Amino acid sequence: MGSFNFDVITLFPKAFELLDNLGVITRALEKNLIRVNLHNLREFGEGSYKQVDDKPYGGGAGMVLKPEPIYRAHESIIKSSKSKTLLMTPQGRVLKQKDLLEWSNLDQIIIICGQYEGFDERVRHLADEEISLGDYVLSGGEIPAMSIINGLTRLLPGTLGDPESLLNESHNCPLLEYPQYTRPFVFKEMKVPDILVSGNHKEIKLWRMQKSVERTLERRDDLIKSKKNLTSLNTQRVKQESEEFFKSNFEDDYGFYPNW
Ligand SMILES: C[S@@+](CC[C@H](N)C(=O)[O-])C[C@H]1O[C@@H](n2cnc3c(N)ncnc32)[C@H](O)[C@@H]1O
Repeated sequence: MGSFNFDVITLFPKAFELLDNLGVITRALEKNLIRVNLHNLREFGEGSYKQVDDKPYGGGAGMVLKPEPIYRAHESIIKSSKSKTLLMTPQGRVLKQKDLLEWSNLDQIIIICGQYEGFDERVRHLADEEISLGDYVLSGGEIPAMSIINGLTRLLPGTLGDPESLLNESHNCPLLEYPQYTRPFVFKEMKVPDILVSGNHKEIKLWRMQKSVERTLERRDDLIKSKKNLTSLNTQRVKQESEEFFKSNFEDDYGFYPNW
């Protein structure tokens, strides 16, 4: 299988050096599972000063990225038949784990990073999708771009040591993950639940299901479309229900269901 290509148009290519020190992502780069191709917007700038920005028409604070350099940079990238262009903007759709899963079936993602006051409106025509990292404003699109590279790379086959770990992770399935513990058994008078050292795998699985359900209802019941199925589940029913219950209720939404 060929590498997954991330082509990033940015004024700050050095920011992406962080990817060389990020554990799983660094290994994916070393194993050629991914390639991060940086396209320095400055090199596509106008005139001898390589100008990339200008004052906004109509007045107002700050500078706006000009369209020509971004178009030239985008045109210079060789596109595969399974390629998508994403524009980083706080005005876009908020990134979800489902997007990363869907895009992991492509083999190229081109990411355009804005800076300053943003970009000329005509740049939007280059984008298949406009993506926001969340409802807040950052100074540039580099951190959102690295988030996409990071989150998508760990979904690619061969990246994680144990791909099973994706199955019950928060946001890969409709429920938040259950509480996790490691040694020591008692820490600052906080004890690991006895069930986890009981050796009874069936009971451990049921406990995890129950905690996942409780935690999701407490913190993020917005994640579950078919809420009525869960809110009607009392503790006793959770214990009686099988994985099939979750599978039949949630598989359509997520493709995965938890592998407690
Ligand atoms: C200071 S922001 C510009 C915000 C713009 N003036 C607006 O109000 O929509 C500069 C650049 O950072 C990036 N950026 C900032 N916040 C972001 C977010 N939440 N998600 C994705 N990109 C973001 C975008 O590329 C944006 O063009």
